[in-house]
Amino acid sequence: MKKIPVIIDCDPGIDDTMMLTLAFARPELDIQLVTVEAGNLTIDKTTYNTLSFLTYIGVDVEVAKGLQQPMLRKQEVAEDIHGEGGLGNVKWAEPILQASNRPAIQAMVDVLMKATEPITIVATGPLTNIAALLFAHPEVKPAIKEISWMGGSAVGGNMSTTAEFNAYVDPHAVELVFRSGVPVIMSGLDVTHKAYITREEMKALSHLGTPFAEKVAEMMNFYTFTQSQTPFYTPGFEEQIRIHDVCAVAYLVAPEIFKGDDYFVEVELNGSLTQGTTLVDYVNKTGKAPNVHVLHSVDRQAFIDLFFHAITTIGQKLEA
Ligand code: RIB
Ligand code: CA
Repeated sequence: MKKIPVIIDCDPGIDDTMMLTLAFARPELDIQLVTVEAGNLTIDKTTYNTLSFLTYIGVDVEVAKGLQQPMLRKQEVAEDIHGEGGLGNVKWAEPILQASNRPAIQAMVDVLMKATEPITIVATGPLTNIAALLFAHPEVKPAIKEISWMGGSAVGGNMSTTAEFNAYVDPHAVELVFRSGVPVIMSGLDVTHKAYITREEMKALSHLGTPFAEKVAEMMNFYTFTQSQTPFYTPGFEEQIRIHDVCAVAYLVAPEIFKGDDYFVEVELNGSLTQGTTLVDYVNKTGKAPNVHVLHSVDRQAFIDLFFHAITTIGQKLEA
C-alpha cells in the first residue's frame, strides 16, 4: 500500500480528537509528527489533551508543543464549546507520552528536511504554527505536498456572522499561508456543516460495543449540548453535530466523497466587524489565479461510515 506521509497540527478540542481517531485508524497514513496549536484552548491545555488522548488510543508519535499566541490578534478560546478542560467532561488518560524536547516549528523543519518525499500537512486549528514555519523557513516549501486545513468558509461564520473560528483567531496566519504558494485544501464550514452526525447516529455510536466508543459517545453528548446552546443561523442545526476537523483527514483517505473547486481566497485582516472572514472569490471578481481548493460538498453517509469504522478500529485495537 502506498503510504501518505503526514504531519498533523491540531488544537484538541473535541473534534480534533475525532480527527486523530480517523488519522491513526487508517493504515495508508504514515503520521510522522503531531504538533499542537493554541486555539480551542491555551497551549498547555491543548498539549495536555493531545498527549492524554494519544496515550489513551495507544499510539507512539512525537508530539511537539507549538506557539502560544496568535501572530497579532488577542487570543480567544472556545471553552464554551469544548468545555473548560477541552475534551468535554471526559477524562481520557494520564499522559505517558511526553511532549517533545523540540518545539513544534523545529520539529517540523527537521522532519520536512529529512523527508524522502513531499509530506502532507493536516491542520485543524488556527494556522499560527504553519504560518510561522513557512515564514521563517521557506526552504521547507518543496518538502510540503499540500496543506489540508479545516478552517474558513465561503458563506457564513461560527465565531462571528462571517468568520469561522480557526480563521478568526489568527487571520494573519491564514494570510501568510494562503500567499505562501503551498497548495491548500480548505475544509471550511460550507462542507463541515454537511459532515454532521445526527442525534440518532450518536446513540448508535454508544452501542458500537467498545469502552472507547462509549467514551467517544459521552464526549460527543457534551459537544451536542454545547453546540445546541449556540445560536444557529440555520433552523435544525441543533440536530446536527458537526465534527469539523474530521474532514481534513477524510479528504486525504477518501477524496472521492468530497466535491470542491479552485478559487482565489483571501482573508479580512482589518475589518473591525469582519476580521478573519475568508473571501472565497467564487464570482471571480478579483480575476486573480486560484490559490485554494475549497471543498463544498460531501457524501454524508460515506463520511459517517468512514468515521464509525475508525471508531470501531481503534476500539477493537484497544480491546485486543
Ligand atoms: O470552526 C471549527 C474549528 O474550530 C474546529 O477546528 C474546532 O476544533 C475549532 O478549532
Ligand atoms: Ca480544531
